[in-house]
Amino acid sequence: MGKIILTGDRPTGKLHLGHYIGSLRRRVQLQEAGDYDRMFVFMADVQALTDNADNPEKIRQNLIEVALDYLSAGLSPDKCTLYVQSQIPELAELTTYLMNLITVSRVQRNPTVKTEIKMRNFEANIPLGFFCYPVSQAADILAFNATTIPAGEDQEPMLEVTREIARRFNQTYSEVFVEPNIMLPENATARRLPGTDGKEKMSKSLGNCIYLSDDADTVWQKIRSMYTDPDHLRVDDPGKVEGNAVFTYLDAFSTDDDFAEFWPEYKNLQELKDHYTRGGLGDMKCKKFLNQILNKMLEPIRVRRHEFEQDIPAIYDILKKGSEDAREVAAKTMDEVRKAMRIDYFNDAELIRQQAERFRK
Ligand code: TRP
Repeated sequence: MGKIILTGDRPTGKLHLGHYIGSLRRRVQLQEAGDYDRMFVFMADVQALTDNADNPEKIRQNLIEVALDYLSAGLSPDKCTLYVQSQIPELAELTTYLMNLITVSRVQRNPTVKTEIKMRNFEANIPLGFFCYPVSQAADILAFNATTIPAGEDQEPMLEVTREIARRFNQTYSEVFVEPNIMLPENATARRLPGTDGKEKMSKSLGNCIYLSDDADTVWQKIRSMYTDPDHLRVDDPGKVEGNAVFTYLDAFSTDDDFAEFWPEYKNLQELKDHYTRGGLGDMKCKKFLNQILNKMLEPIRVRRHEFEQDIPAIYDILKKGSEDAREVAAKTMDEVRKAMRIDYFNDAELIRQQAERFRK
């Protein structure tokens, strides 16, 4: 079996820099490297509905936003299958069967589910569909026999569950599934980008995001008011780079080439940090530099986005075609699943013959 990459996002909002550095950029690199047999990227609208059942319009509106973010970031329908989870009914079917292979208490112990229940104040009234989403996520992965899941650390418990279910299935019925592995972001800053307010995480609900779709003015406004070192009041004061969002972003995004291009006074980030720490370097200069870097990165994405926006029906066509292709793969897996589970009655000539014999008087 080959190497198959699969990953997805809940379409609950536009994608921001945290998504980009944490996974989207990596996906595009993986796509370009071509060092795999197939790549699937999907919008997890079914999963998004598990905690937005009363607001399907939100998912409907954001589906196209995320599709535009994918395409403008550089994912290409020629190189990777882009699809929509709800359009693959085989996934719901597989989820139903996989639910028998895991216990309620096992899901209850899932740290990601636990955190999400707290965050959403679901404690007393957990929607059953939400509770079961780790199993649905296992189905997302196993239906495509994906080997490699590029995702953040928070998805690790989901992968645990997926591997466990795959093992249980293979032991209980027969070897159908491969156990997938997570592919984590390369470094700490890529794993969790703080918000522009310096808070731990960039997140829509905190209002501290820079979106891939923000225009240059908006990005500059956001950078200008970014959190730095609250004790760095005058330019001459020594500054702190730890916990300083501007420097965390520079850690995540700047390269030595950026210094050569925009700020040749410094060879690299370390020299800049040293100066800032010593004192004598103002926040504004650093912010301007960050703005140049981010805009250089975002500009080609904006240009592509603008092009894609001119033909929205074509985007839906891409997703439709991708969903059809994905469905074909999932349907093949389901044939194997039904066979392994011995519920392939009508395709099993041997079964029909045996039963005929048994009842013949
Ligand atoms: N849980 C992921 C998120 O919250 C989305 C997702 C659903 C996913 N199914 C997946 C990611 C399968 C990787 C593989 O963003």
